[in-house]
Amino acid sequence: MKLTLKIWRQKSKNDKGKFVEYILDGVDGDMSFLEMLDFLNEKLINEGKEPVAFDHDCREGICGMCSLFINGQAHGPDKLTTTCQLHMRRFKDGDTIVIEPWRAEPFPVIKDLVVDRSAFDRIQQAGGYISVNTSGRTVDANTIPIPKKDADRAFDSATCIGCGACVATCKNASAMLFVAGRIGHLARLPQGRIEAADRVQKMVAAMDAEGFGSCTNTGACEVACPKGISLADIALLNREFIKAHL
Ligand code: FES
Repeated sequence: MKLTLKIWRQKSKNDKGKFVEYILDGVDGDMSFLEMLDFLNEKLINEGKEPVAFDHDCREGICGMCSLFINGQAHGPDKLTTTCQLHMRRFKDGDTIVIEPWRAEPFPVIKDLVVDRSAFDRIQQAGGYISVNTSGRTVDANTIPIPKKDADRAFDSATCIGCGACVATCKNASAMLFVAGRIGHLARLPQGRIEAADRVQKMVAAMDAEGFGSCTNTGACEVACPKGISLADIALLNREFIKAHL
C-alpha cells in the first residue's frame, strides 16, 4: 500500500508546529497503525531525518498512551479500538491519512504527536483511590460480599485507560467521562463508599483547577471512548456530587 501521511510536527511545547507530508510506500495491511509509524521512522532515520515522536507503551489497548487523532477521529475509524489496536487493512492504497496529537489546552503538546497528560494523574491523586491500612493484618477483599451486578458495573467503569480521547473529542475539552469512570468504579463498591463524598468533591475540584471544560451532554466522549465508558457514569458522578453537597 502506498499512503500519503500528513503528520503534525512540532519541535517543542512553544514551537508553532505544522503539518508535514510524507509518502510511504510498502505499508502492509497487517501492520498495526503504530508499526506503520515505526516503518516511517526507520525510513526517516535512514534518510538522516528526525523521526516522528509518538507515545506508546503496551501496544495492546491497556495503557492509554497511544493517543492520536486519525483523520479527525480520536484513535481512528474503529469503535472501541485504541490506535495501537488499529490495523492498516482499515485503509486503502492511495489513501491520505491526517495524524494529529490530542488538541486540548490541559494537554499541551510536548513534541510532534506527544502530549502531556499529567493533568489526569493530578486528578487521580486528588481522590481516585481508597485508603487502606496495609500494616498488620489486612482483611481479604473477598470477605466483603458484593452483588455480581454491582461488581460488573464497577468493573466496566474501571476499564477506563485514561487515554484522554474523551477530552480530545469533546468541544469543551471536558474530562467528565474520565472522572466519572473513576467515581463510577469506586462509588459502586462498599470499599469505595467510605470516602465517596470527599472523593467526588476533590476530584471535581482538581478537574476544574486543571482547566478542563464543562460537560454539555453532547455525548461525543462516549462515542470516542475505546473502552465504552458510558454517559451513565457521568449521571452517577453528578448524583454523587449533589449528594456530597447535601
Ligand atoms: S500503546 Fe497502550 S493502549 Fe495503545
